[in-house]
Amino acid sequence: ETEALDELARRRGFYFQANESYGGVAGFYTYGPSGASLKRNVEESWRERFVTREGNMEIDAPTVTPEDVFEASGHLDGFDDMLVECAGCGESHRADHLVEDATDIEDAETYPTDEVEELIAAHDITCPNCGAPLEGQRVEEFNLMFETTIGPGSGQPGYLRPETAQGMFTEFPRLKEYAREQLPFGVAQIGTGYRNEISPRNALLRTREFTMAELEFFVDPEAGGPDLDAVADVSLPLYPASAQAEDGEEYVELGPKEAVEEGLVAGEWVAYFLARSKAWFESVGVDMERFRFRQHLPGELAHYAADCWDAEAEVGGDWIELEGVASRSDYDLSKHAKHADDTFTVFKQYDEPKTVERATVEPDMAALGPEYGSAAADIASALADLAARDRSAFDGDEVTVEVDGETYTVEKELTGFEVTEETEAGRHIVPHVVEPAFGVGRAVYTVLAHAYDEDEVDGETRSVLRLPPSVAPTTVGVFPLMDKDGMGETARELAETLRQAGFDVTYDDAGNIGRRYRRQDEVGTPFCVTVDYEAVEDGTVTLRERDSTEQKRVDADALPGILADIRAG
Ligand code: GAP
Repeated sequence: ETEALDELARRRGFYFQANESYGGVAGFYTYGPSGASLKRNVEESWRERFVTREGNMEIDAPTVTPEDVFEASGHLDGFDDMLVECAGCGESHRADHLVEDATDIEDAETYPTDEVEELIAAHDITCPNCGAPLEGQRVEEFNLMFETTIGPGSGQPGYLRPETAQGMFTEFPRLKEYAREQLPFGVAQIGTGYRNEISPRNALLRTREFTMAELEFFVDPEAGGPDLDAVADVSLPLYPASAQAEDGEEYVELGPKEAVEEGLVAGEWVAYFLARSKAWFESVGVDMERFRFRQHLPGELAHYAADCWDAEAEVGGDWIELEGVASRSDYDLSKHAKHADDTFTVFKQYDEPKTVERATVEPDMAALGPEYGSAAADIASALADLAARDRSAFDGDEVTVEVDGETYTVEKELTGFEVTEETEAGRHIVPHVVEPAFGVGRAVYTVLAHAYDEDEVDGETRSVLRLPPSVAPTTVGVFPLMDKDGMGETARELAETLRQAGFDVTYDDAGNIGRRYRRQDEVGTPFCVTVDYEAVEDGTVTLRERDSTEQKRVDADALPGILADIRAG
């Protein structure tokens, strides 16, 4: 499946190794004319579903990011893969993948490096490139970020972003204002992410530069979730961590509401986005017979995630991750709040203003000084902390505080302890984040792999891409039967009319009609229109449908309407 697809992708301009004229570098692909159009349609469809129809915002942040951001986000420390280098040929490999290929283990990335070293030795794992034994080679953590310097000279250290998500977090102090501090709200971004993968593989599936489509959805952790009735018609094929631990293939098919009620999916927003994601994947052509949501095993979770479900599709016999729906809790905003000089909270207004009691101290320093000497100032601040934390500590005549391991007892009278009443309109909270994060290249590749088919037409085998009309690179091919007797002219006029109506049109007058149909079948064009003698006379044309190969006569003037209806689904 994947070899035939790669060959077709190269030949028909979907994707191919980048910079091949210079030898090419692994992990970089160029989308050709058909692929760029398919990818753009997939992105547009995603934007329509996850931005426009959800009422979310979209931003476009830089890809080069200063080091401080990744210090705060945890990527500098935690964004690693396990690398083992072959002493024979010098080639680097993902150590966890080698172990997974050689054993029944499915989550080797969760193992410590010394255990992976032991497994390499125990299973006599050799270098896939040259065959030399890898036993005894050190397995190390390798950070996947591409490093750069910003500006001339020694410059400021920077990194190419490994996820678009950080843009939504670092700009949060402004974004919350655009959302008028009203939770929940979502901010999306479609853009390039970079990861210096140790062993890029499987064409678009593991590359070093790829487009991501991510939504950071900011919620109030104390508020209820969405109305799951809106997605009640979607059933979720769930593969929970518990089933994987038992090594079973126990899928559970549940509606979003039931999945939350049964405690399988933690949180209504996660269930909501799983449902929206499944429906979207189906709409762009992912085969739902080869699709599931797999829950991350505890050790597999990214450094920021409290829970995560991956949308996975089966391609070429392997399950591949298309999207992760992660509960990032308040991890990101809290981290940035600590490192950055800005406010990463929102002000949550109460329904009614609340009267709250506030305990304060105003120690009598003139009395504390002589009694406690140099410790007096620290004692005063310890008293203030204690008053804010535990008012009952001031119930007696004396108050005890600890400063630098020493215990001090202070007469309550000297503390200036007081309880006052204040009216509060609300309070500052750190929103939690639910994140559906999609890899666009992986979606494009899966859509192509699932659309690829071979059947027999007129006694010949044909390759056909059964792409949904909404994402197909070309909507309609227009052919004159022959370029004579007015047919060429009529066909060219029709092609132009359809282009002006907003359709992607291919005009083709080369070769016999059967061959022209085959060429369009191979790039997934859902319709072809042929202009024959009759068309020149009465304005009707033949409309041929790709999958059934059926043809019918229609009025050429009606074509824009017919095609628009079909493309919209
Ligand atoms: N902000 C969350 C995040 O970055 P991720 O699971 O690491 O999550 C999101 O990446 C998606 O990006 C994945 O589900 C996958 O589809 C895609 N992806 C990740 N690494 C990739 C690579 N090397 N090549 C192509 N796509 C990749």
